[in-house]
Amino acid sequence: MFDFTFHNPTKIIFGAGKETLIGAELNAAGITRVLLVYGRNSVVKSGLLDRVMASLKAGDITCSQYGGVDSNPLLSHTREGVALAKRDKVEAVLAVGGGSVLDESKAIAVGALADEDVWDFFVGKEVTRALPVFTVLTLAATGSEMNGNAVITNAETRQKYNIASPHVYPKVSILNPELTHSVPLSYTAYSAVDAICHVIEGYFTKEPGTHLQDRLVEGIIKTVIETTDLIMDEPDHAKARASFMWAATLALNGLTPAGIGEYSFPNHMIEHALSAIYNIPHGAGLSIVMPAWMKWYVTKNPSQFARFAREIFGIHTGEAGIEALEQWFVTINAPVRLHEVGIPATEIGAIAENAEGLARQWGIGDLYPRETIAEILRLAV
Ligand code: NZQ
Ligand code: ZN
Repeated sequence: MFDFTFHNPTKIIFGAGKETLIGAELNAAGITRVLLVYGRNSVVKSGLLDRVMASLKAGDITCSQYGGVDSNPLLSHTREGVALAKRDKVEAVLAVGGGSVLDESKAIAVGALADEDVWDFFVGKEVTRALPVFTVLTLAATGSEMNGNAVITNAETRQKYNIASPHVYPKVSILNPELTHSVPLSYTAYSAVDAICHVIEGYFTKEPGTHLQDRLVEGIIKTVIETTDLIMDEPDHAKARASFMWAATLALNGLTPAGIGEYSFPNHMIEHALSAIYNIPHGAGLSIVMPAWMKWYVTKNPSQFARFAREIFGIHTGEAGIEALEQWFVTINAPVRLHEVGIPATEIGAIAENAEGLARQWGIGDLYPRETIAEILRLAV
């Protein structure tokens, strides 16, 4: 075990129908005026927006609505949200939606209290304050509901960059797993891939010997695989949707890396270039990158890959474990090759160049120069 500080301040309220508590939670925090941020139309169609509005009304909370957040949220839309938050002098941002809505809400919360352009915080400026963020989550995948990260795409520069700050952890996140029953099976698959990737980044890139954390990771992966298989057969499988939702939250809330020391996020570094340039779903990019990265990395940490194969799939070599994971991605209809999402091999140079910028920003530029990233991507052709 390495020394660590673990401080996760987000209050989680988990269960069916719990979104009706949002007004009372805002009241308890002394909030009287919010910016309610949502996506394209899923929360309108499901009636969730109306239920949340009713809860705000009951709590006597004034609300400005701001819809239209894209999957892979954009800087331009974020900037408009910042202007609205400032104009209406809101005291908090309430995100109702998936990871994209939560991330854009966090960015708006930072921008609302800043004189600088909000993008400055994505390219190095330290976040020192933000409006409080509250969330009602509708799609389990990113862990944004219980972490301090927000990822935004600057379409002009084609950079998909992030902020990571204790100031943007949500104050309260409401997780009603029933809200996720309507998530399409395609996105359910991408979400499973994303949650698995969140835990394997540390699992494979850390020093060996932190077995408790390994077991936590393996428990999350097994739960995600098991519940995804159940959901694929029965999208309304309540128990599976509930366990899947909590597993996805635990996969990126700081729990599994506590005590593992140094680790890195190479799969995410490469994937963010894919979704920055081609606007593909994050999890669909990861199901392409992850097997390729694993095939490239397996000789650098053979014992951990052998452990992964044994613990997750009950098989005996690292290579067979990678093959089994890739095959599972195929069975849930997640893409595993670049051409499956329409990206020709001739684009690899451009993707590698884009990813290299993020590698430098994340302090892994020496390990992952452009040529290495291209070498990994060639394993996904
Ligand atoms: O826009 P609406 O109409 O709401 O539709 C969304 C969207 O089209 C739909 N959806 C959401 N909840 C639904 C639903 N459809 C039916 N029923 C529901 N209950 O699903 C689509 C995808 O939503 P999105 O929020 O984009 O998905 P996700 O939660 O996977 O978020 C992806 C974004 O999060 C970033 C990704 O890069 C990507 O930009 N990430 C954020 C992280 C973080 N903050 O910690 C970490 C991750 O590694 C990731 O990078
Ligand atoms: Zn991710």
